[in-house]
Amino acid sequence: MAHHHPPADFAAMAEVLDLDAEVFHSFLTDVITWAGERASAPPRRILDLGSGTGAGALALARRFPEARVTALDVSGPLLERLRGKARDLGVADRVSLVEADVDTAWPALDPVDLVWASASLHHLADPDRVLADVLATLRPGGLLVAAEIDSFPRFLPEGFGDGLEERCQALLDERRAAELPHIGSDWGTRLTRAGYANVVERIFAVELTAPLPASAGRYAQASLRRMRSGVEGRLSADDLALLDSLIDGPQGVLHRDDLALRTTRPVWLAGA
Ligand SMILES: C[S@@+](CC[C@H](N)C(=O)[O-])C[C@H]1O[C@@H](n2cnc3c(N)ncnc32)[C@H](O)[C@@H]1O
Repeated sequence: MAHHHPPADFAAMAEVLDLDAEVFHSFLTDVITWAGERASAPPRRILDLGSGTGAGALALARRFPEARVTALDVSGPLLERLRGKARDLGVADRVSLVEADVDTAWPALDPVDLVWASASLHHLADPDRVLADVLATLRPGGLLVAAEIDSFPRFLPEGFGDGLEERCQALLDERRAAELPHIGSDWGTRLTRAGYANVVERIFAVELTAPLPASAGRYAQASLRRMRSGVEGRLSADDLALLDSLIDGPQGVLHRDDLALRTTRPVWLAGA
């Protein structure tokens, strides 16, 4: 089953996505640079599949000033947010929005040179079908960039709370595996099987250490809040209290000076 966030979750989701774009800024830049080196020419038409609030779409529009970018998402409110950001950045004339659920059907789209799919493939009910539709939408010589998430970021020092983050992470992994069966998939094999050429994978290590930008504390707070809703009810009372104090307490993540951000993000490039 595809995993769609209910509207009540929209504000929290939008906040995490916006903060994610800020905190992972240099990762995004590195991936776009890598894709730009591999592309046969600077892309003129770009599709951001599952754009959310536009981390990818907007970074791509700025990086490739000649390009027209289509941001596609199932969520109207997230696209609305993207529209406002595109206006603020002065790229609204080159960014168009398509509200569509690609699980239901692939919408009619003009051919593109580059498809960007960041943390969206694992949400789909049938990603293999969508990968075939993406391939059919790419011009010959075009490129798919698939960035995925393989783990929840770590924020606290090793051993904090006697392994609180590890315990939360294990519970979250269980739930994610049940709700999002495609997460952590071997996308390289799936891409090759779908008919893509020259599939390459790179694992980007993201490590931010003190002093962190203020957005990192807010990102940790928003992430732990989302983590809480995923593990609540299965975590011990002590662990839940500690997690709550990290989210909102005076010793919480907004106030700590030992906060870090460590994670890895796998990315695949696949040619059409
Ligand atoms: C984890 S978010 C990633 C957003 C964005 N790509 C980023 O990196 O910040 C996944 C996005 O995929 C969208 N999505 C999930 N299922 C979808 C579907 N069936 N059709 C279109 N979009 C979908 C969600 O609405 C959400 O915005």
